Amino acid sequence: MTDLVSEDSDVVPTKASNSDVSPWWKTGPIYQIFPRSFCDTNGDGVGDLRGIIDKLDYLNDGTDRSLRVKGIWLSPIYPSPGRDSGYDVADHETIDPKFGSMDDFDALVAECRRRGIHVVMDMVLNHTSDLHRWFLESRSDRNDPRRDWYIWREPRRRGRPPNNWRSFFGGPAWTFDEDTQQYFLHTFLPQQPDLNWQNPEVRSACLGIFRFWLERGVSGFRLDVFNAYFKHPELLDNPRQLGTTPWTRQRQLYNKDRPELHDFLIELRSLLDEYPETMAVGETFDAQAELAASYCKQLHMAFDFDFLQQPWKPRSFQRTIKKWDGLLASQGSWPCYVLSNHDHPRHAGRYGQGVSPSEADARAKIAAAMLLTLRGTPFIYSGEEIGLRDVPIPSHEEWDVAFKYGSRDPSRTPMQWNSDVNAGFSSGHPWLRVAPDYHTRNVAIQEGDPRSILSFYRRLVTLRNDTPALLFGDWQPLQDDPDDTLIYLREHQGAYAVVALNFSNTRRRVTLDKRLPVRYWNARLSTRRPDVGWAVRLDQTLELGPYEASVFTSVDEMSDVNSRERIAIG
Ligand code: NOJ
Ligand code: CA
Repeated sequence: MTDLVSEDSDVVPTKASNSDVSPWWKTGPIYQIFPRSFCDTNGDGVGDLRGIIDKLDYLNDGTDRSLRVKGIWLSPIYPSPGRDSGYDVADHETIDPKFGSMDDFDALVAECRRRGIHVVMDMVLNHTSDLHRWFLESRSDRNDPRRDWYIWREPRRRGRPPNNWRSFFGGPAWTFDEDTQQYFLHTFLPQQPDLNWQNPEVRSACLGIFRFWLERGVSGFRLDVFNAYFKHPELLDNPRQLGTTPWTRQRQLYNKDRPELHDFLIELRSLLDEYPETMAVGETFDAQAELAASYCKQLHMAFDFDFLQQPWKPRSFQRTIKKWDGLLASQGSWPCYVLSNHDHPRHAGRYGQGVSPSEADARAKIAAAMLLTLRGTPFIYSGEEIGLRDVPIPSHEEWDVAFKYGSRDPSRTPMQWNSDVNAGFSSGHPWLRVAPDYHTRNVAIQEGDPRSILSFYRRLVTLRNDTPALLFGDWQPLQDDPDDTLIYLREHQGAYAVVALNFSNTRRRVTLDKRLPVRYWNARLSTRRPDVGWAVRLDQTLELGPYEASVFTSVDEMSDVNSRERIAIG
């Protein structure tokens, strides 16, 4: 590693003006690691904390040869029986031995700090594992002091569950406990009983968990299904509606998004504010943009999964971005964007359906250019930067049997580092099979190829870091109703960037509906243009080649022209 980043230096983004002193979580990509699939150092086939430490230079070595990520979000690393791949936590205040020890964790935080990387923990607090000490005590006896830490109710007539709620994973949301003759509630698996957030003892225990990790040097939290914490105190039946699954056939009115949550989030925020620059991003579960935005008043960010669910159509993306950006801008909040994570099919595969592998890669670059040039924090899911696709997993090798509507294993396969055995992920037998294409698709190969998806991600991050308009600027679409292209303007304190993306495999000529603010631009990055690094004149009509992604920044004076470092064609 060269040129270590000091802790302070990454607070101020590169070349941004003095007024742009922004917290870390606004200025850089946050990289999601699914720890069991990232890097295994002891040959047991499961990724571990030492493996993450080994790969930190890849994430940010202080130079533009790395991804320059500002934060890593670790999917759960706590002890867990693994019924939901770690999202069933048995102890929130230690590390699962299969990932390492507390010493390894402290070393990880320290090594991250040296590189200007912030550690974001996954906080799974809507529910615990049924093997968590709290639940074992709670279910042991109706009079146990912890009984009311979970949601227990008498059966209705003829032994029926207490209400009509469904589990998101399928089946009823209630399981009967023979020993104590009551039902307990679980929004997910029966092995994931929901905590009773109406109980003040539960709230204070959970705040204690946040503090525990803050004291260990963590800089942020991803809040798993936080909007389901509180349930209506009377557990009323949810109204029915039209839908395609038992879950969607109910309006989830009484089991999530309760008003009490806002008071808790205020309390949480004041705890986080005791620690400088701490960030919380909420996983808004089963929610529309308006609802997700409403939580951004207390949380720093929230995911809006509408963006991730759009088809490969500029018009759909533009509509979604416009809504999300507009909602957040009007309340002074900060957006974030995500295209892939451990719960969804990987986007290179989704957008690449029905086209050749090379076209799918071209689309992955367009998607990356969009993700990394919007106003808001980009979240990168480990492996998307090399264009990983889902890997079909035969049923006898499946781990994720929790989700009845389709296993999520295919998007959780091991990271592909090189062409060695098991893609360099593990010298042992990987817990989940490695994609068969790893000999041709891996980090080592793509690092050496200036036209690879990985090189393109790196160049985009470099450009973003160099360009206040891309980091902080307002976002404005330049077409009213786009067809095959997505073209937008970013503006920050009189400096501009234009991003032009052609989602199609043919040449497009587009007349912009909005006027460009200036005539001369620097072509800063492109998958097609030969004039990158040079000044260009942009008119109201733009010509874009097949799958072209180009980014231009405004030039105030002709003297600035060609003064910038040339960024090679991607
Ligand atoms: C959301 C997580 O992302 C998902 O993986 C998990 O199954 C559910 N929450 C339940 O914790
Ligand atoms: Ca291991």
